[in-house]
Amino acid sequence: MNFIPYGKQLIEQDDIDVVVETLKSDYLTTGPKVKEFEDALSEYCGAKYCVAVANGTAALHLASLVLLNKGDKVLTTPNSFLATSNSILYVGAKPIFIDIAEDGNIDLDLCEEALKQDSSIKAIYGVAFSGNMLKQEKLKYLRETYNIKILEDSAHAIGAEYNGIKSGSCTNSDISIFSFHPVKHLTTAEGGAITTNSKTVYEKLLALRGHGMYKDSSMEPWFYEMRDLGFNYRITDIQCALGISQLSKLDSFIKRRFNIAKRYDEAFKETPVKPLYTFDGKSSYHLYVVLVDFSKLNITKVDLFNKLREKKIGIQLHYIPINKQPYYKELGYGAENTPNMDKYYQECFSLPMYPLLSDEEQEYVIQTTLEILNG
Ligand SMILES: Cc1ncc(COP(=O)(O)O)c(C=O)c1O
Repeated sequence: MNFIPYGKQLIEQDDIDVVVETLKSDYLTTGPKVKEFEDALSEYCGAKYCVAVANGTAALHLASLVLLNKGDKVLTTPNSFLATSNSILYVGAKPIFIDIAEDGNIDLDLCEEALKQDSSIKAIYGVAFSGNMLKQEKLKYLRETYNIKILEDSAHAIGAEYNGIKSGSCTNSDISIFSFHPVKHLTTAEGGAITTNSKTVYEKLLALRGHGMYKDSSMEPWFYEMRDLGFNYRITDIQCALGISQLSKLDSFIKRRFNIAKRYDEAFKETPVKPLYTFDGKSSYHLYVVLVDFSKLNITKVDLFNKLREKKIGIQLHYIPINKQPYYKELGYGAENTPNMDKYYQECFSLPMYPLLSDEEQEYVIQTTLEILNG
């Protein structure tokens, strides 16, 4: 048995062919494939505009430059990859960590309590953790009632749906972002994208992706003008050609993820392994997260990790609470009242979940995990 990671890309010959074709074309960096990928993404998600960028972190950075001002307070989740709240710090704004709800997402009821107590809070940065979108009716209510900006970090959630609302459609948010890292649903190697329904936001993002430069066809033929301090966060045509090809297969990738999730759900019934949520067709399952109450077992979480890795199963942990990271502690974070996150962190781990995971490999993961837990 080869090593089974927790996530992995699926690259086929047709993906390779389009990359090779692009390498032979006139454009390697920004050419026609970038806009084609952006158009395909906005159509898939049902958002008006899309800007593809170098990676998901760059997407978050640009989004924060557009949505936030220095000193703004932003409610966010401790249960994410570092980049979500780092992007708030990048622009000199202030993350405020809110506890998670049962599904691992930021608790929007607690967000409302915070908003009631402090009218200077400017935004919520939520994460559709593991592929499970934020509760859209609550998001809509908070956005309208408290006049705040909403960012949906949808790095885990392309292809997810919530009562007919597609992830990335920005139906109840100002901006959504995606990552196309190889462990995600579709890959461009490194890569990311931002969706929005605001033309102003879109135009600002486009400029910030390329050094804050603007062109004007009514001016001299060489004219360009820098109005903002932007970056080079461009994605290449080579990557976008791969992205277009991958996006055309996304629904079949997600179907396979659904089958894997349903099988795990079934196999772990009446066992100490509790899925974070059971299959209901909403999550697009970037991750399959489970909870185990180790205090009731004769094995520690560290032992389980080590034993599974000895058996070539690469389980992972998503996530160490961001507010407990040394850098954040230096800034005065770490002592927030987040009992749900603390308990979750004790119990959570992620099992292998990717389209190429075979039925036999999945069975091996299930049986080995249960054998180790049962001692
Ligand atoms: C929730 C979340 N946000 C943002 C990112 C950053 O994406 P990237 O790795 O493409 O920079 C990640 C990446 O793992 C992520 O999981």
